[in-house]
Amino acid sequence: MTAFTPTPDDRFTFGLWTVGWQARDPFGDASRPPLDPVESVHRLAELGAYGVTFHDDDLLAVEPDRDKAIAAFRKALDETGMKVPMATTNLFTHPVFKDGAFTSNDRDVRRYALRKVIRNIDLAASLGAKTYVCWGGREGAESDAAKDVRAAMERYKEGLDLLCAYVRERGYDLRFALEPKPNEPRGDILLPTIGHALALINELEHPEMVGLNPEVGHEQMAGLNFVHGIAQALWHGKLFHIDLNGQHGPKYDQDLIFGHGDLKSAFFLVDLLENGGYDGPRHFDYKPLRTEDPEDVWASAAANMRTYLILKEKSRAYRADPEVREALRASRVDELAQPTLAAGETWTDLAGDDFDPEAAARRGFHFTRLNQLALEHLMGVRG
Ligand code: GCO
Ligand code: MN
Ligand code: MN
Repeated sequence: MTAFTPTPDDRFTFGLWTVGWQARDPFGDASRPPLDPVESVHRLAELGAYGVTFHDDDLLAVEPDRDKAIAAFRKALDETGMKVPMATTNLFTHPVFKDGAFTSNDRDVRRYALRKVIRNIDLAASLGAKTYVCWGGREGAESDAAKDVRAAMERYKEGLDLLCAYVRERGYDLRFALEPKPNEPRGDILLPTIGHALALINELEHPEMVGLNPEVGHEQMAGLNFVHGIAQALWHGKLFHIDLNGQHGPKYDQDLIFGHGDLKSAFFLVDLLENGGYDGPRHFDYKPLRTEDPEDVWASAAANMRTYLILKEKSRAYRADPEVREALRASRVDELAQPTLAAGETWTDLAGDDFDPEAAARRGFHFTRLNQLALEHLMGVRG
């Protein structure tokens, strides 16, 4: 159906490492050959994507010479009009990062990690990226004896402050986005949730330069409500970027196609992103299943975008449904937007209320009806 065909206006973006994932896992070898980033740019453009994102090392998938790899990548971007809104650093594959990067106990490793980030920031800025993601997958520990977490927080802050200073000195129009994750590959990763990352940002020298890149599956791995996390990040003005994918509850990081995990949460997420003031790219960070062949990979990329667009249409129909509007009113969802004190009131005015708690306690909120209406829209029997 053409209505669900993506165009660059939808601002869908993909990490090169997603479609390019060769499906190596802890138990088995790669099931697909390496993918040339140039091919990814062309295939994703044909599918209607807006752009691609990359780790420094992703560009070297088939061409080990960095200059040649960058030149070929730039040519593909020029030929297709694809954008690079975000870039990031691989601070997790090489064993030098086995105890972390910004927070490794080894000071020389910390210095090397910062150099690696700075080098790729220059490239990111030259490609027009506005967001630089920091996913600290190796920042953490397997044993509480191994890591002085208070010192690690100092080093995390030191590293981020240094990177912000670098971007300011260079005059780049670039902001950082921290990506929380509770575990995997480390037993416990630092900044495990949206809330932990928000708290660290407040301690930085330039908190306005640092926000979040939350990933659907990462909060769900921790048993948390991703939609709530995103709503709070938006409220703080910290949703700089987002990693969309799918996950089935608390288990290993599945990185499924968007909507192929908790579909109901995906529906409310799209509803929030489309109506909650987020104007960044819709970025997919998923892994094509290990069972899939190289052509299936492109079908999986298309599935992410198509699912998003279907959910966007479902959200529109849900909000336009008169019965939903009536149910929202009956559940008094909009009453929460009303300040608890009227203009000019203070705590002393609370005493004047004529309120019967027993009567209020007897009134239902009718949330079941609202939830069922949402489900019926999602299941396609309404709207
Ligand atoms: C994961 C992570 C990674 C990062 C990406 C950016 O699935 O554990 O999401 O995919 O997002 O590597 O550094
Ligand atoms: Mn993930
Ligand atoms: Mn991610």
